[in-house]
Amino acid sequence: MIRNDELEAILEKIDLKNDIPADEPMRQYYFIKKAREIVDLESQKAGHRLTADEETFGCQMNAKDSEKLIGILKNIGFEIIDSEEADLVFYNTCTVRDNANQRVYGRLGLIHSMKKKNPHKKVALCGCMMQEPSVIEKIKKSYSFVDLIFGTHNIYKFAELLVAMYSSDRMIIDIWKDTDKIVEDLPAERKYSFKSGVNIMYGCNNFCSYCIVPYVRGRERSRRPKDIIMEIEKLVSEGVIEVMLLGQNVNSYGRTLDEPMNFAQLLREVEKIDGLERIRFMTSHPKDLSDELIEVMKNSKKICRHLHLPLQSGSTRILKAMNRNYTKEQYLALAHKIRTAIPDISLTTDIIVGFPGETAADVDETIEVVKEVGYDNAFTFIYSKRTGTPAASMPNPTSDEEIKANFDRLLKVVQETARSRIGRLTGEIHSVLVEEENEHDPALVTGRMSNNTIVHFKGGKDLIGKIVNIKLTEACGFYYLGEMENFEN
Ligand code: SAH
Ligand code: SF4
Ligand code: F3S
Repeated sequence: MIRNDELEAILEKIDLKNDIPADEPMRQYYFIKKAREIVDLESQKAGHRLTADEETFGCQMNAKDSEKLIGILKNIGFEIIDSEEADLVFYNTCTVRDNANQRVYGRLGLIHSMKKKNPHKKVALCGCMMQEPSVIEKIKKSYSFVDLIFGTHNIYKFAELLVAMYSSDRMIIDIWKDTDKIVEDLPAERKYSFKSGVNIMYGCNNFCSYCIVPYVRGRERSRRPKDIIMEIEKLVSEGVIEVMLLGQNVNSYGRTLDEPMNFAQLLREVEKIDGLERIRFMTSHPKDLSDELIEVMKNSKKICRHLHLPLQSGSTRILKAMNRNYTKEQYLALAHKIRTAIPDISLTTDIIVGFPGETAADVDETIEVVKEVGYDNAFTFIYSKRTGTPAASMPNPTSDEEIKANFDRLLKVVQETARSRIGRLTGEIHSVLVEEENEHDPALVTGRMSNNTIVHFKGGKDLIGKIVNIKLTEACGFYYLGEMENFEN
């Protein structure tokens, strides 16, 4: 991230008649300046300021990438709107399960008819799905009206790619297989003024046998601690009080650094930042979760009382086929150790049902773990075959009906467990970071407790971004209704 005034000072010195700089990020600064000219010109032609709309699928990584892309769009002069009627629509795609892909194709069908009415409309695709060669082939063949395609490794080139797109009538495709580069110091936009995701690493090296992420996000690369700390300090100076440290497996942070530092050590450094109130992180792989991390969490005043610890399956046999590198017993022992050290922690998880060869007996074991650990929430997914992953070639004798029955059985237990877990704090007073006006009732605001549970309570918009003490008056399924302490009506 770069401050606006710093960027403006650099841009002022750039002469577009000179050669295009070869090194980053100077090259992108050049293209930001160039793109501004183009957007101004196109806006004049269109008779209005060009508008852009972003649609993001997938996980927090993609959400963070979209903030970077919107930052560039705003900077070069687009007005950002929330409608696919915009002059430029970009889809930041996800391919973790097939339904994510199908949604994108559905949307493209819609955009095609809009484009026929407005030939100046542009559509760009980026994100994980674009890293799959078969997807690119399909888009070239069936969705040839798409103007720009890029992947996960070169989002920092967005300004350069937009210049190319506005200078050509052909589909621009720029996909990199992998990268060891981390380009920073570009403009970024934040969705919330008081909280922000912060990438601490990119990519994944775990190759869980069902998962496409390592293929579309490339090898694991950690950002330098200094850069992470600087970014957080800057965010805090702009009013951010909560950060979410992002990585596919934060517990293996630091392995690629010249001067190695582990995740627990990084957290200790982040904790020291004055003005920062809350620290969250996503995601923890159980195989790499260290005792040192548990110790740091236990002694921390800022790290939230929440740990997302994906289980995937409670059957050791299936875990082995999934290449998860832990057994049911090891997972349970770890969960027990965490709960003993930090009794008020909330554990949440991800579970896949229907992995090749999984039987009802395997799902019984998963259910056993859910009951024993007592998750506050669990995201349950039906296995989706991803081309190119090892699991895609494993035979699956279990019928779709059986998988659905197993899934429903598990979901029932997950929901019962979550309901009884969440209700345990009724009557207590907890600190809540107020995030937004309530969607359904403007007299209410909505916030999050340290353990990530949602609370709705009576209060005004002026509370957004503040941490307040709330009495939890009633547990309603997955959330609480509460009352603000000392709140006068
Ligand atoms: N890096 C994270 C997860 C990223 S993907 C981790 O390891 O925890 C988010 C979740 O999607 C995974 O935890 C898994 O439960 C689910 N998932 C991944 N691949 C899947 C597939 N092929 N089918 C169904 N669910 C899948
Ligand atoms: Fe996928 Fe496993 Fe990496 Fe998570 S740790 S992104 S599930 S390969
Ligand atoms: Fe999807 Fe890519 Fe995230 S595949 S889950 S958006 S890393």
